[in-house]
Amino acid sequence: MNRRERRAAFARGQAADAAPASIAELTAEASRARHEGRSAKAEELCRRILSRDPAHSPSLNLLGLINQDSGRHRQAVKMFLKAIDVDDINAACHYNIASSYQFLGQRRAAAAHFKRAISLGMSDKNLEDFILQNPDIAARVNRTMANTIVPPTMQYPGEREIAAIANDIFLQCALQSKLIRGVPLELFLTGLRAELLGLAADETFASAKIGGDVAGLFCALAQQCFINEYVYACGDDEMQQACRLRELLLQGMAAGGGIPVMLLAAVAAYFPLFSLGPAPSLLAASWPNYAVDLLCLQVREPLEEADDRPSIAALTAIDDPVSIEVMQQYAQNPYPRWTTSLLTALADKEKRDRDGPADSGRPQSGEDILIAGCGTGQHAFHIAERWPAARILAVDMSLPSLAYARRKTRQAKLHNIEYAQADILKLATIGKTFDRIEAVGVLHHLADPKLGWRILLSLLKPNGVLRVGLYSTAARRSIAEARALIAERGYPATPEGIRALRRTIIRNRHEQRWNLLLATADDFYSMSGCRDLFFNVMEHTFTVPDITALLAEFGLSFLGFELDADVVNKFQQRYPAAGALTDLDCWNAFERSNPQTFRNMYVFSVRRNATD
Ligand SMILES: C[S@@+](CC[C@H](N)C(=O)[O-])C[C@H]1O[C@@H](n2cnc3c(N)ncnc32)[C@H](O)[C@@H]1O
Repeated sequence: MNRRERRAAFARGQAADAAPASIAELTAEASRARHEGRSAKAEELCRRILSRDPAHSPSLNLLGLINQDSGRHRQAVKMFLKAIDVDDINAACHYNIASSYQFLGQRRAAAAHFKRAISLGMSDKNLEDFILQNPDIAARVNRTMANTIVPPTMQYPGEREIAAIANDIFLQCALQSKLIRGVPLELFLTGLRAELLGLAADETFASAKIGGDVAGLFCALAQQCFINEYVYACGDDEMQQACRLRELLLQGMAAGGGIPVMLLAAVAAYFPLFSLGPAPSLLAASWPNYAVDLLCLQVREPLEEADDRPSIAALTAIDDPVSIEVMQQYAQNPYPRWTTSLLTALADKEKRDRDGPADSGRPQSGEDILIAGCGTGQHAFHIAERWPAARILAVDMSLPSLAYARRKTRQAKLHNIEYAQADILKLATIGKTFDRIEAVGVLHHLADPKLGWRILLSLLKPNGVLRVGLYSTAARRSIAEARALIAERGYPATPEGIRALRRTIIRNRHEQRWNLLLATADDFYSMSGCRDLFFNVMEHTFTVPDITALLAEFGLSFLGFELDADVVNKFQQRYPAAGALTDLDCWNAFERSNPQTFRNMYVFSVRRNATD
């Protein structure tokens, strides 16, 4: 009996007579049965699978969903718990159990599992699509998108909708955890912030009673505003209102009395709380959990970073004029402002040794790796998790970026990264060599990138690997257009200038040149991302022939580009020959006909030949 016959037999209910199907086939059949509304059949199939493999998590998850479909949330939770017990890194199971907990009114458990699903990457699905599954949000987003004014001036009708949105635990978790991308949600959240500001003012000035859910929503939105570094557009009246509330908050702090959570959230949605002089006093007061999270993000963590900055070692001087300008840019806007790490979430499962000071760089057996221009540590995390036994030295010029990286590293209890301040141009003076050097998104910010290559190669051991990320001229065409617009309109590299540029692009979002940018450039949705994307004080872009010339000049072997599997498949269909993947002429031709191949960066590795 072939697969199709077996499927037909299942459909006729004759499976018992058939040859035993594989677990994979039974699982596919069970899933299909559920989607077709044949839940009894789906359940029976799951039970059959579990009789053969009691720890089969997809079946346990499916049984949970079948229970959920028919409103049996308690049974659903039991099944999802069993599935998670077997497979703790399955984002879908966490999302599913959270949905049932939400239905059962167990908000804290729901939030914990939604956050876990988010940190696990939502099974490679778009976070934003999940937010839009809430019909109240979808309806408001549609209305907002019909409005062409930025910031949106729409009057939102009201309490019922706000209550429905405030009840959405997933939305709150998403706002707290990750940068939300996309114009539709940005405009929705911008409007929502203005409306909640109005409610906070009503409560403050007219003693209106605001429920805890709404205050929780506003705290979460304030966290999102901090994560995107206050990139949302803001009208003049709205800013005046926010400034008035900030004054009131400061008065309340000086008086030492109780501060309403809505007032705290309103101020935090427009200004980072750590920037208020007496901010540390806020930490001493007692707050509901959602305000504690907000204060941790906006006060405790920034203060921890500020305290740590003076203790970061300086390995080299920084006196080159371009280096100083670049350093200042990344000190004002540390980049990237990442929040969760998928790899960390995955690594949680493995019981790593979590004792000892996190950034001590204490010796371990393994290779020496240099990360040149490590930024805020996301890059170093990836490397540390991939090579846990390596000794990693991660350097950057921006102290705030390094402090951010060190805080995240301490939090994750990663032990094998040592951070230090250094200019790549001076690294030859540190007297060390490395088995592997990483320079992703950095060399194109040097006045003379070739000099950077030369210095890094001088630190590479024979047979060592250099991994580089360089801007692609072809993929950055729309960025070049934005830079031309900035020059034409004279937008400064300040928060106001960045918001003005964004407003222009969002207003003209239907133009083809901005369309793709808005859909693909995550950096558009945060202040430091925009600074890095559009306002860099120094940047060069490259072509594949430029890379070919560099490799020839330095005598390096090309090891390959890093690309998504679908791009590689497309390339291989066009260039099936063995060795084509490392043939730069083929890649050059491919990029010419597919200019977005490398998004905005070529990421590739080269090997230094032992004879050098
Ligand atoms: C776009 S970020 C990339 C950060 C990191 N590699 C990543 O992929 O997340 C560029 C970083 O390079 C650093 N940088 C630029 N020029 C540098 C130099 N000459 N020496 C050391 N770091 C430099 C900047 O301070 C900034 O943090």
